[in-house]
Amino acid sequence: PAGQRLDHHTLEKYENIWFGIATVLAIFLFVTVLASFFSGTYPSLNGESGHHITGVKNGRLNPKNFAATPFATPGLRHNADGSYEAFVVAQAFQFQPAVLKVPAGQPVTIHVTSADVLHGYYVEGTNINATAIPGQVTSFTTTFRRPGTLNLICNEYCGTGHHNMINSVKVEV
Ligand code: CUA
Repeated sequence: PAGQRLDHHTLEKYENIWFGIATVLAIFLFVTVLASFFSGTYPSLNGESGHHITGVKNGRLNPKNFAATPFATPGLRHNADGSYEAFVVAQAFQFQPAVLKVPAGQPVTIHVTSADVLHGYYVEGTNINATAIPGQVTSFTTTFRRPGTLNLICNEYCGTGHHNMINSVKVEV
């Protein structure tokens, strides 16, 4: 009968509307996630979102041998193009370098990895909160505004010395 066919068509219309909404949401989610990866707002797990690190492929490296990478000599680099990059190694129970010196008011890209287990990389008084993962590089770019010494704290339980795993970031003029 005509009534049934009408109902069928009405249902189909609603189905299409909901399918359209679901598609739009899926695209929005995809674009948002993609944008967050490229914006540098969040620490990237793959370590190479726009960064090339010698000896590191797809953000991965051998946690037992940093020899071919900049992590062999941790610390700040002032690149030829004027950019600043820092390489930090976390290991039970300290960070290397113990005092990371960075320039005030300049963007610094910090690359963090671990030589053993998971460690946290939290800079007190800032929104910097990353994870140091053995075999992987975590990278993020930040600007320290004011000169001074900030506590660098491991906020990921890593063993008996975890509570003593505190070093510093020294922001210099
Ligand atoms: Cu390192 Cu907790």
